[in-house]
Amino acid sequence: MAQLWGGRFTKKTDQMVYDFNASISFDKRLYRQDIEGSLAHVKMLAKQGILSEEERDAIIGGLEGILADVESGELRITPEYEDIHSFVEAVLTERIGEAGKKLHTGRSRNDQVALDMRMYVRDAVGETDRLLKDLLTVLFRIMEKNIDTFMPGFTHLQKAQPVTLAHHVGAYFEMFRRDRSRLADIYKRMNYCPLGAGALAGTTYPLDRDYTAELLGFAGPTLNSMDSVSDRDYVIEYLSALSTIMMHLSRFSEEIILWNSNEYRFVEIDDAYSTGSSIMPQKKNPDIAELVRGKTGRVYASLMGMLTTMKGLPLAYNKDMQEDKEGTFDAIDTVNSCLPLFTGMLDTMKFNKDTMETSAKNGFTNATDVADYLVNHGVPFRDAHSISGRLVLRCIAQDKALDDLTLEEFREESEVFGDDIYEAISMKTCVEKRLTKGAPGEVAMRETLEICKKYLEL
Ligand code: ARG
Repeated sequence: MAQLWGGRFTKKTDQMVYDFNASISFDKRLYRQDIEGSLAHVKMLAKQGILSEEERDAIIGGLEGILADVESGELRITPEYEDIHSFVEAVLTERIGEAGKKLHTGRSRNDQVALDMRMYVRDAVGETDRLLKDLLTVLFRIMEKNIDTFMPGFTHLQKAQPVTLAHHVGAYFEMFRRDRSRLADIYKRMNYCPLGAGALAGTTYPLDRDYTAELLGFAGPTLNSMDSVSDRDYVIEYLSALSTIMMHLSRFSEEIILWNSNEYRFVEIDDAYSTGSSIMPQKKNPDIAELVRGKTGRVYASLMGMLTTMKGLPLAYNKDMQEDKEGTFDAIDTVNSCLPLFTGMLDTMKFNKDTMETSAKNGFTNATDVADYLVNHGVPFRDAHSISGRLVLRCIAQDKALDDLTLEEFREESEVFGDDIYEAISMKTCVEKRLTKGAPGEVAMRETLEICKKYLEL
């Protein structure tokens, strides 16, 4: 047991209490942020004349040595320290002597941990953003290649109207683009430095909080010291953004699982991204997509956990807040590993274009276009809808598509039909006529792609 706070205690901490209280097993991953924060703090203390230049240089040398040794594996972070802050300070003092004991001047673990966690989350936000950009680039490539790959668009999981693969994938492009913009918002809002808030009420030392904030790449220092040590909103916002990303990945996974099934056969997941069955030799399972869908639950759980942990906390710091870490780390690990796997799976997936097109033709996805044809020839939409419905009924009875009806059959329902009906309801026309902004028609789609390309800076 190595503790920073033994002074006012007369008894040793019970071992079970110590273990229950300690956070080193999980906050050890904050070592880099902890050391970077301390380096900035110590530079500021010297600038303000609170530490001498010799003390500053000794501490900086010591901290840099610890960072290098942890990174090379030479120095192991072991559980006899209560938390990462105690570890760094204890090793520092062991290595450089008296000066090490001055590092904590004008600082509390409350503002220290608030800083470490903020810096860690700030880095993680950047990483999630990079991974989303990679995913968007792969989505863009798929879209570019599939402007004329027809497929059924669904509502209620029933074939509705024909779209293209570019258009369907483009819907996910929008979702993940919004996810990135959510991250950018969060980053901007959270990027203020809590260091210097002390335990809760600031300090009596003349700290220069603007200076430390600047050294650590923050937009500035936080404004209220009590809020600084007890704010975990940014964690909640990030977990919420991660949950939304997982929700999007999960919806896409569900579609890929369906598309990869024997019934659909729209796609084939690459062997490298599939797994087999221990008993059924014929199986090739979409486990990656299923796992991504499944792991969505634990990311939501982290968000729910954090919201619940925070809901009854009085100001300012409470030990409950130590619970911000495990769930957040798990959510970060989950999302930041799901994203590249999902991107790789998509990048290597084969799209069975013919199967998609055949499927789009076999579900009366052009029934709306039959009605639109009549409307364009002066029939009121309600009547047109009903004529088209009767034609569908005929087709169902004869087990054929609208395109297969003879002109006589069309005309039995309405005299308005002419030879040009076939052209008007062909798959190509059905899609290409949809030219409104954001629609799957080629002209509209090319405009969208141009915007996506600029956005990705390709
Ligand atoms: N391990 C603690 C945490 O993660 C560090 C802060 C401890 N502060 C305190 N007042 N006990 O929140």
